[in-house]
Amino acid sequence: MRELPRGTVTFLFTDIEGSTRLLRERGDAYADLLEEHRRALRAAFAANGGIEVDTQGDAFFVAFERAKDALAAAAEGQRALASGPIRVRMGVFTGEPIRTEDGYAGMDVHRAARMAAAGHGGQVLVSESSVRLVADELPGDYALLDLGEHRLKDLSAPQRIFQLAGKGLSRDFPPLRTLENRSTNLPAQPSPLVGRQSELAELIQLLRRPEVRVLTVTGPGGAGKTRLVLQTAADLVEDFPDGAFFVPLVGATEPALVLPTIARTIGVHEAGGLSSAEAAAEYLRDRELLLVLDNFEHVLEAAPLVGDLVSEAPGVKAICSSRAALRLSGEHEYAVPELVSEDAVALFAERAKAINHEFRLNGDMQVVAEICRRLDGLPLAIELAAARTKVLSPQALLDRLDRRLPLLTGGARDLPDRQRTLRDTISWSYDLLDETEQSAFASLAVFAGGFALEAAERVAGADLDTLTSLVEKSLVRQRDDRFRMLETIREYGLERLVERGDLDDVARRHAEFFLEVADSGSDAPNEWEPWLEQVDSEHDNLRAAIAWARDRGEARLELRMAAALGPFWEARGFLTEGLVRVREALASDPEAPAGLKAQALKFGALLAYKQGDSAVARDLAERLAAVADDCEDEQILADALNSMGIVLTGEGRFEEARQALERSVVINEQLGNDISRQSNLHNLGLISLNESEYGRAVDELTAALELSRRSRQERHVSNDQLDRAFALIGLRRWAEARAEAEEGTRIAQRLQWRENVAYGLVALVAVAIAEDEPERAARTLGQADRLTDELHLDLTGYAEQARVEAREALRSRLPDDLLGSLLAEGRACSLDEAVADALHE
Ligand SMILES: Nc1ncnc2c1ncn2[C@@H]1O[C@H](COP(=O)(O)OP(=O)(O)OP(=O)(O)O)[C@@H](O)[C@H]1O
Ligand SMILES: [Mg+2]
Repeated sequence: MRELPRGTVTFLFTDIEGSTRLLRERGDAYADLLEEHRRALRAAFAANGGIEVDTQGDAFFVAFERAKDALAAAAEGQRALASGPIRVRMGVFTGEPIRTEDGYAGMDVHRAARMAAAGHGGQVLVSESSVRLVADELPGDYALLDLGEHRLKDLSAPQRIFQLAGKGLSRDFPPLRTLENRSTNLPAQPSPLVGRQSELAELIQLLRRPEVRVLTVTGPGGAGKTRLVLQTAADLVEDFPDGAFFVPLVGATEPALVLPTIARTIGVHEAGGLSSAEAAAEYLRDRELLLVLDNFEHVLEAAPLVGDLVSEAPGVKAICSSRAALRLSGEHEYAVPELVSEDAVALFAERAKAINHEFRLNGDMQVVAEICRRLDGLPLAIELAAARTKVLSPQALLDRLDRRLPLLTGGARDLPDRQRTLRDTISWSYDLLDETEQSAFASLAVFAGGFALEAAERVAGADLDTLTSLVEKSLVRQRDDRFRMLETIREYGLERLVERGDLDDVARRHAEFFLEVADSGSDAPNEWEPWLEQVDSEHDNLRAAIAWARDRGEARLELRMAAALGPFWEARGFLTEGLVRVREALASDPEAPAGLKAQALKFGALLAYKQGDSAVARDLAERLAAVADDCEDEQILADALNSMGIVLTGEGRFEEARQALERSVVINEQLGNDISRQSNLHNLGLISLNESEYGRAVDELTAALELSRRSRQERHVSNDQLDRAFALIGLRRWAEARAEAEEGTRIAQRLQWRENVAYGLVALVAVAIAEDEPERAARTLGQADRLTDELHLDLTGYAEQARVEAREALRSRLPDDLLGSLLAEGRACSLDEAVADALHE
């Protein structure tokens, strides 16, 4: 056999589409077909200078010195198979793999296979790296079609993919089988996965077994659990029509937050008296969906809840990463093994190259293999060691490791040993830092869920240079403007922080910094949305800060935090969590000044009302009224009356509610508080709508809208407009209703406020029917149905009534099967498409 090429190599990967089906259909004849396909492809490879690296079942893996030969071989192979029943997908990828004794190693090896996996039988997909090489040499009758950027299932950043077209090749194929055609939030990985092919195959097989409902990948910190579960999930997305969702649990500071965190990730919000846990359970019941629960060891007490969730939802499975098993029935545990030697070396080389472009393995293969063996094949330890090659040669590194790490007893390595290896490796990296870096590193461990530069500077005294140095040493990760630590490293850092005696100071600075973030919320136009987004991204830090204040008895700080976050919890629908925090904080700080208490009570009452807990809502509103009485503050009184108005509305006591709201209007008017007055008027409008007093509703909502516009509160503008549209529908003033519904929907769509988009679509359905456009109305209704299902949204009375009436009207206008297919069509399209359709765009 000829020597395998070195340096820049182009791989061609081929794979038969639907081989199991073919085997089933053709039985014994399949063996002959397979053989014939092998002969044809081998001839094409040989004719173009390809060398077979590996053949597995019905897949070929072939290396070419030149990219253009790989393309020629692919084209020839496809032409030879064109007339037969076997259809083969092919991938061509150029890279710089590491040459080993009997083949290749390194990150590029599997990428041709990944590329092929995105395609269809008869299709040849080509990487951008290959296209660059052949740009000018492509034979005249071939072309490379640019299929655009795609996320492959290797979780790499999106990459440009091309399709080979030309003589004898089909041109039209279904959409690529890539991640953007799936519903999933699996995060892209900064570097390609190395090795792990057999582990992946095993995990995939396990998770496909019907009795395996929870699969837990266990191992010490840094063993590669997260990487493995992410890749398994990516490979299985097609098995789960409703998607695969990554739920990091490190931010869930207590077991009670696990289900709400899952709920949010899959897009389920609390509403209508259902807690997010119940809503998630109900949503999942008839879905086929994979949950990826990362770092479960933090919240092991919540394991039974996940057990219940999964047992009530037969189509749902969970794959978890955890340092310890969950101990659930139906759980299958899989201990992550060490990286095999070859892959460990490849990981080392890849990381070393990322830090030091000059790095080449050359003659150091044995030395690096020995380093990796000393590090127990632990990926994180290997990364940390590789980061040192900027200053040390592999041999020098090994010598130092010899001195540093206790010699292991060889043979089977159990977990405690591997744990020690990692700790020793981390502390080795730590000891090599200078004092400034050590102090910064330890202090940065206080952050939960990552941090931005400003926070690092203010809380941990870490400037950009120090951060950059920590990133280079693999102790801190950076992605765009955000930094974070891997969990194991963070734990180590926290220990150092305690040891240095700095924990209290740093944690206090952390809490104070995030109180500032929470406090910077503002009603001012153009400030509200950015604040919400910032709070979103700092949510885990804010949770950690409030927990610190609570645990340390810092009652005032806790209450200020809760009061400041009230609007966030309300706007983003963290009803249960927010209400718990507000009530705890109020209990911690009975002596708080009236204004602070009032702010907490006001949002507490609102959260409780929205959550459907009317007793608690009433209690908090009454306490707010008592505060107002005590301090004789007019604004607090106005707020208390507004809260009471909401509570009374929820209790169906409309007349009393009106009285309270009208009193509040008068006070707010005197105080010149437009924002609060808008809220009063809107709440009055809702009462009128509920009582079907549409004329009155229009007046109240028009007044509210004027104030929202004046204070440029986009959210309120959208709200007022949509409710006003329902009132106008009640009055059959269709043209005005359409204008109002359209604009309200547009704003909601821009703010990505899907609840309000749902309301807007329902209003537009009613209008479209009146405008004699039943088909459009049916499509829009389909989308509205889907949205309310997805959000688990119970529409309020008047909107639900409008939807029921619309459905009846459509039934009498359209034949059943047409209506059914239009509804399905609406359900199936994307939200953007549906909104554009409803808006005649
Ligand atoms: N097969 C692999 N190829 C490339 N990188 C890997 C591989 N396995 C692990 N890594 C890298 O090693 C580091 C540690 O891996 P990972 O975060 O998956 O460990 P973990 O077991 O989840 O640790 P923890 O218990 O701290 O959560 C990460 O930077 C990860 O990207
Ligand atoms: Mg992990």
